[in-house]
Amino acid sequence: MTVPLLKIGVVLSTMAMITNWMSQTLPSLVGLNTTKLTAAQGGYPDRSIGVLPANPEESWQVYSSAQDSEGRCVCTVVAPQQSMCSRDARTKQLRQLLEKVQNMTQSIQVLDQRTQRDLQYVEKMEVQLRGLETKFRQVEENHKQNIAKQYKAIKAKMEELRPLIPVLEEYKADAKLVLQFKEEVQNLTSVLNELQEEMGAYDYEELHSRVSNLEERLRACMQKLACGKLTGISDPITIKTSGSRFGSWMTDPVAPEGDTRVWYMDGYHNNRFVREYKSMHDFMNSDNFTSHRLPHPWSGTGQVVYNGSIYFNKFQSHIIIKFDFRTSSISKSRQLDYAGFNNAYHYSWGGHSDIDLMVDEGGLWAVYGTNQNAGNIVISKLNPTTLQIIKSWTTNHPKRSAGESFMICGTLYVTNGYSGGTKVYYAYSTNSSTYEYIDIAFQNKYSHISMLDYNPRDRALYAWNNGHQVLYNVTLFHVIRSEEL
Ligand SMILES: *[C@@H]1O[C@H](CO)[C@@H](O)[C@H](O)[C@H]1NC(C)=O
Ligand SMILES: *[C@@H]1O[C@H](CO)[C@@H](O)[C@H](O)[C@H]1NC(C)=O
Ligand SMILES: *[C@@H]1O[C@H](CO)[C@@H](O)[C@H](O)[C@H]1NC(C)=O
Ligand SMILES: *[C@@H]1O[C@H](CO)[C@@H](O)[C@H](O)[C@H]1NC(C)=O
Ligand SMILES: *[C@@H]1O[C@H](CO)[C@@H](O)[C@H](O)[C@H]1NC(C)=O
Ligand SMILES: *[C@@H]1O[C@H](CO)[C@@H](O)[C@H](O)[C@H]1NC(C)=O
Ligand SMILES: *[C@@H]1O[C@H](CO)[C@@H](O)[C@H](O)[C@H]1NC(C)=O
Repeated sequence: MTVPLLKIGVVLSTMAMITNWMSQTLPSLVGLNTTKLTAAQGGYPDRSIGVLPANPEESWQVYSSAQDSEGRCVCTVVAPQQSMCSRDARTKQLRQLLEKVQNMTQSIQVLDQRTQRDLQYVEKMEVQLRGLETKFRQVEENHKQNIAKQYKAIKAKMEELRPLIPVLEEYKADAKLVLQFKEEVQNLTSVLNELQEEMGAYDYEELHSRVSNLEERLRACMQKLACGKLTGISDPITIKTSGSRFGSWMTDPVAPEGDTRVWYMDGYHNNRFVREYKSMHDFMNSDNFTSHRLPHPWSGTGQVVYNGSIYFNKFQSHIIIKFDFRTSSISKSRQLDYAGFNNAYHYSWGGHSDIDLMVDEGGLWAVYGTNQNAGNIVISKLNPTTLQIIKSWTTNHPKRSAGESFMICGTLYVTNGYSGGTKVYYAYSTNSSTYEYIDIAFQNKYSHISMLDYNPRDRALYAWNNGHQVLYNVTLFHVIRSEEL
């Protein structure tokens, strides 16, 4: 008879601040040491040293090690036999709760990974900032005429970097937040630990609501921590060179684990064949693909693959079609009322790019122009099942003078053009229904961008640049206040 082991928290931060916290605070919070585990001599296990239950069929044990070989925090649950669970409804409930805790700790891990990239950027800038500060002071000290120019240049750079200081402060606040969540997970784990001694006496309702409550707040926090304002776009990486000047390509941001299929649609006009590559690796290295024939041709390059379906604008119409790749059939089709089509309100590059569908952390969106809004961009949140508009926002930005646009965390970012030097220069927040002008330059390597979309899973921008399939990483900064939790 084997004892099922559920690893419930592998929470580790590559974030330096959290790592620091982990090594200094967590061991004392947990107070357990896996290497001390020994089998108890009958009766209840001694929780203080976290021993294994004497009889795994009867009791639960939750223990944690401060660190595993890779320096991570690991909580391990020794659960009773499966058969035992089916006989005991309470144990089953407990198992579910533990699973939830497990899921939450996994979420924290994901969170850590996602913020890591930003943190590295921030840290790099911090070093740069400190270096500059030193230099700045030196220059100030031996102030001479001939270095006046140098002095000015440094001063300008300093100004550029100064906004990073509050950002750094925010990161510190976030680290505290993650800490708090970890503590709560630890607390819950220890409650579960106590349960083995109080089977029957414990208020499951209360425990359950504590878990749900924590789960809910964690989800909200994840959403916020993972979200933020666009502050930078990396240099591009060319994944492949293939197809015509115009097209689109993407991966499904909510595809199940292990599904890394790449979807590829060449051309903007009257084409209906979608290529499916098994993986990014296949896409880069071969022309090994499956072809899907859509029941109707598409218009533009605004298609999006989301949760196993492609959403596209039917050629010469303002109809949006949801085509399910699993069943190879249309699961929904609906007119997008008032949306201009047939080059009425295309992006500046033309190509019937009137209706642009996209997905961000919040779901499915349509971006288009209408007569009612004088050809300016309208943003609509769509129900991915019914294709009904949940809510719309009208912006003051002419659709035809936008190069491309993409949505990140409910904010629409608009670029200034499709050729030459490109930058993101307009941002409309659906959250606050406000806009601002920004200036985030990015490299337009092949001089003709006909598609630019954000993928919230990869946190990357997918672009079709003159027959090249290109990726950019984005840097997002977020503001979180602990009282929000
Ligand atoms: C864990 O226990 C082992 C054996 O008792 C001991 O050598 C080790 O120092 C302990 N580690 C910690 C972090 O307490
Ligand atoms: C935990 O996550 C898995 C996979 O995402 C899911 O199937 C399961 O229902 C979740 N469990 C709970 C209790 O939320
Ligand atoms: C966790 O438990 C400790 C000790 O009972 C308590 O002081 C702390 O506030 C709890 N933390 C959270 C986040 O609930
Ligand atoms: C193409 O796909 C087939 C079937 O999946 C596989 O056997 C073959 O090795 C692939 N070829 C290349 C060049 O990747
Ligand atoms: C994906 O589709 C399935 C049904 O096909 C649904 O249960 C699930 O909630 C969807 N996921 C998202 C993120 O929309
Ligand atoms: C959205 O707006 C609300 C208030 O309207 C604010 O509390 C919240 O922080 C905003 N969220 C984001 C992601 O900007
Ligand atoms: C984005 O960042 C990841 C992780 O740092 C890296 O592996 C990937 O190559 C980057 N992609 C681009 C386009 O820079």
